[in-house]
Amino acid sequence: MQIMITGANGQLGQALLRILPGAVGLARPAVDITDADAVERAVAAHRPDVIVHAAALTDVDGAARDPDLAYRINGLGTQAVALAAARHGAVVAYVSSNEVFDGQAGRPYTEFDSVRAINPYGASKLAGEWFIQHLLQRFYIMRTSWVTGRGGRNFVHRIQQLADERGSLRVVNDEVANPTFVDDLADAITRLIITDRYGIYHLTNSGHVSRYDYARRILALSGRAHIPVEPITLAEFKRASTPPPFAPLANHMAAGLGIVLRPWEEALQDFLASPI
Ligand SMILES: NC(=O)c1ccc[n+]([C@@H]2O[C@H](COP(=O)([O-])OP(=O)(O)OC[C@H]3O[C@@H](n4cnc5c(N)ncnc54)[C@H](OP(=O)(O)O)[C@@H]3O)[C@@H](O)[C@H]2O)c1
Repeated sequence: MQIMITGANGQLGQALLRILPGAVGLARPAVDITDADAVERAVAAHRPDVIVHAAALTDVDGAARDPDLAYRINGLGTQAVALAAARHGAVVAYVSSNEVFDGQAGRPYTEFDSVRAINPYGASKLAGEWFIQHLLQRFYIMRTSWVTGRGGRNFVHRIQQLADERGSLRVVNDEVANPTFVDDLADAITRLIITDRYGIYHLTNSGHVSRYDYARRILALSGRAHIPVEPITLAEFKRASTPPPFAPLANHMAAGLGIVLRPWEEALQDFLASPI
């Protein structure tokens, strides 16, 4: 099976390429997904059976400051991938986000709950989902949350960095989701895309947590348990984007196929224990 991966230099793209060394990785500047002709040329040249579409503008606050750019990359970029895939008979496995939900349900979201994005990043990922669902017959939409890979822009690295710089932290206590680690996510994706069971899936490490409790666990496991952490509310934390407050994802569909990611606590422990 020929697999193509967009966003090959990103956290998830790198993890996918590690476990799928034969896959073709697309990355900027060679292939910018907002350049539909470049995407078409790459798909025509490599004729993939499956395109794992992980490229995205993932800076949530950046998306809030420049929604046009978010729609261009996450919306129209996904349209370009979907159209090229449709022309060449490829399946697309689109990586989406828990931020397509509004975070008001008061319980983890199932795969077929109604979506309602409340910020430009979520809306642009939802635009991507729309193109995937309407331009393709065979697709996977795989929603995930709070993704962490070594060296990437993520909460785990940020908390350790801020702790070392500032000596104390203030972290929101009313934003809750599922921490997800790229090696587990990449493994789940590679298992899902060989099933031919197309549809919508929620793939996160098991369990959910508030950012505050997550930060405390990161500090405890990285030898920084002495760093004081003050819980604050989302209302007190000024940022460009408004995250959905309670948006964990429930994995019903992939679990039905035997694909369940381990608890996030175990994955975090392994992540922090390995040297590089
Ligand atoms: N990170 C999270 O917490 C999170 C949560 C939920 C869902 N997701 C989704 O999971 C997927 C993978 O996320 P990640 O954490 O691996 O993100 P990441 O580390 O930010 O990687 C995204 C990659 O996309 C590339 N990209 C951005 N714009 C592009 C363009 N116009 N053309 C080509 N490539 C472009 C970036 O390239 P450059 O290196 O050139 O910038 C980057 O390498 C994304 O679809 C994201 O929306 C992520």
